[in-house]
Amino acid sequence: MNKYEHTEDRNFDGLAEHFKKKIYGSSKGQIRLQLLWEDLEGQLLNKLDENTYLSVLDVGGGIGQISAKLASEGHSVTLTDVSKDMLALAEEHFIAEKVPLTNYQLKNLSLNQLPDNVHEPVDLVVFHAVLEWLANPEEGLKQATENVVDGGYLSLMFYNKHSVIMKNLLKGNFRKVASNDFVGERGGLTPISPLDPSDVYEWLHQAGFSIISKTGIRVVNDYLTRDLQNSRSYEDIFHMEKLLCRTEPYLSLGRYIHVIAKKNSALDR
Ligand SMILES: C[S@@+](CC[C@H](N)C(=O)[O-])C[C@H]1O[C@@H](n2cnc3c(N)ncnc32)[C@H](O)[C@@H]1O
Repeated sequence: MNKYEHTEDRNFDGLAEHFKKKIYGSSKGQIRLQLLWEDLEGQLLNKLDENTYLSVLDVGGGIGQISAKLASEGHSVTLTDVSKDMLALAEEHFIAEKVPLTNYQLKNLSLNQLPDNVHEPVDLVVFHAVLEWLANPEEGLKQATENVVDGGYLSLMFYNKHSVIMKNLLKGNFRKVASNDFVGERGGLTPISPLDPSDVYEWLHQAGFSIISKTGIRVVNDYLTRDLQNSRSYEDIFHMEKLLCRTEPYLSLGRYIHVIAKKNSALDR
């Protein structure tokens, strides 16, 4: 058994509304979306020739905020998720954002159903905040990355174990840190498999990817006390996030780490 293996992946049925409110109804979600979009624009979208549109597969896409933005810009997006509840929220979101129907598809598929249902590799696989909910993240990453065309891109965001340790230290939870057990409660919103970034980078390397950017998502906000979070403006906190999120050692302490990686061509591998 590898060190991450749990019994089953976490389908978000029954958690979807709670997730939407807790994560995306707060500044946490706003920081996440703003930084993810900056990375995607800066590393990828702004470099495309005019009238070039990407094929995109959003795996475990949830409510689909990033996918909806991509599809609104003309990219051709397929969002897949194992949870019907999340897909129902995604549908509401795409409609509310008036995303052209021709630019997206929502499919109720789990990771291991992708090989039978996705017949062409895509230009960009989006895989945000899913790895940490999988029983076997290493295998899950392999399954997701198989859908990227040679020379194509992966946008991966994962829950960072170092940040969980640091946060527990600051709270004085020394016994928890010593036990090295950070698995969330069943049915809650604490992920089951926080990831050691060095493992993820090694898995990407093995899958034939070169990392082109890394960003810490919430390198500041989550270390502030509740009082400080409430007394500082969103703009002040976001300014600090932006200042530090792409610089070590702060990026490696982000609650999540966002990586954009490029799949080497078959000749390079
Ligand atoms: C934390 S949410 C992230 C949603 C979205 N990617 C985002 O960044 O907001 C994790 C999602 O992964 C989905 N998921 C978990 N295991 C999965 C699997 N094996 N195949 C497909 N989706 C899965 C869950 O249903 C849930 O919607």
